[in-house]
Amino acid sequence: MPELYYCTVDVEACINCLACSYVIICPSPKSCVGCLACYHGCPGMARRLMVDRGLRRAVNIVVNGVTHRVPERITVKKALELLGYTFSIYPEKGCLQAPCGTGGCYACSLLVDGELKRACITPIREGMSIETEVPVDVEPLRIVHGPQPHPVGGKATPWWLKSRGRYIEVAIWTAGCNLRCPQCQNWETTYDGRTPPLTPREAALMVSEARRRYNVDRMAVSGGEPTLNRRWLINYFKQLKKLNPDEKARLHLDSNGTLLSKDYVDELVNEGGVTDIGLEPKAVRVETFKRITGIADTDLAQRLLNTSWEAVKYVVDNYAGRVFLGVGLPYNPAFVSMEEVYMFGVKLASINPEVQLCVLDYFPAFRRRDITRPSPLEMLKVKRVLEGTGLKFVVVQTAIGHIGPERRAT
Ligand code: FES
Repeated sequence: MPELYYCTVDVEACINCLACSYVIICPSPKSCVGCLACYHGCPGMARRLMVDRGLRRAVNIVVNGVTHRVPERITVKKALELLGYTFSIYPEKGCLQAPCGTGGCYACSLLVDGELKRACITPIREGMSIETEVPVDVEPLRIVHGPQPHPVGGKATPWWLKSRGRYIEVAIWTAGCNLRCPQCQNWETTYDGRTPPLTPREAALMVSEARRRYNVDRMAVSGGEPTLNRRWLINYFKQLKKLNPDEKARLHLDSNGTLLSKDYVDELVNEGGVTDIGLEPKAVRVETFKRITGIADTDLAQRLLNTSWEAVKYVVDNYAGRVFLGVGLPYNPAFVSMEEVYMFGVKLASINPEVQLCVLDYFPAFRRRDITRPSPLEMLKVKRVLEGTGLKFVVVQTAIGHIGPERRAT
């Protein structure tokens, strides 16, 4: 029998932030099923993982029509793993997907007793029926925050729009992420497993209505990480395009790029009508990427890092003039050196020096309350270093606003 776990609270470490009451989901408060949603999402890192050596009863579950016996007090995902199914963060042939593991993305959804349920957090129970193939007529779901109007947009918002002093975009933020960044700048969305989910059409209707209300043409989706649930995202953009068929409408995806394979980019642009893509490889060196993202497995980190850089090159090589590309770079001296900032600029300039690069001044958040937000002067220094690599359109986010290049990108 493989080891099973349960979580406890270390009351000494608890910072009483109440995230476990209003952000993170606990699917079984009276008897932990070891889903680890609270372990990953607790800002105070006050959850302790315990190996459960106690005896467990067996329960019967029916998977794809076949009855199996599995230990009680586990999730659907764990039960399927015990039966030989595999789940992965990175999409793999023959694997089921569970990229966030915290209940936000719904990419792990299966049919449980005829209803769409998240395998990563749903507890098993006696007699439960599970279908691992979800029929195409079952609408995908996803937890979404917003829509909200935005005066500056994201990394793929052209810099010359950022200083208009009015709303320029409406955005939604999707819950769930495949990374575990200790300084996650949007952790209350990322680790939200509680908010009722939306279908792609429901989200597209809300965003279209917000576009009209705020009189903007740009409609963005950010996260968390929007690309985790591919079916939901492609459907969402299709619906959004249908509701906004005019030429002024801009459909903007803001992603870390770590799961964006070439065929995924093609589908987003050609089927989904995406016009603006923001990508954020985060680093050049894998050790830096691991430090920023909290991904401990070096092979996985390298693969995610490579995929994001390859996506940057693929969009440049195949969609120049059709898709506006913006690249993001998180900056804080606590996790990236100025030498690596320079390397990042050199690498991006070698792909195309005209790509917009937006450097984000990472502030203390989530599990990294110890860092200090870089000052505007520090960010200007970063800007100069990057411009020294030949990049023509470097924008830095600072506490006093965005500072962009002097001339407009063509
Ligand atoms: S992996 Fe289950 S909701 Fe994201």
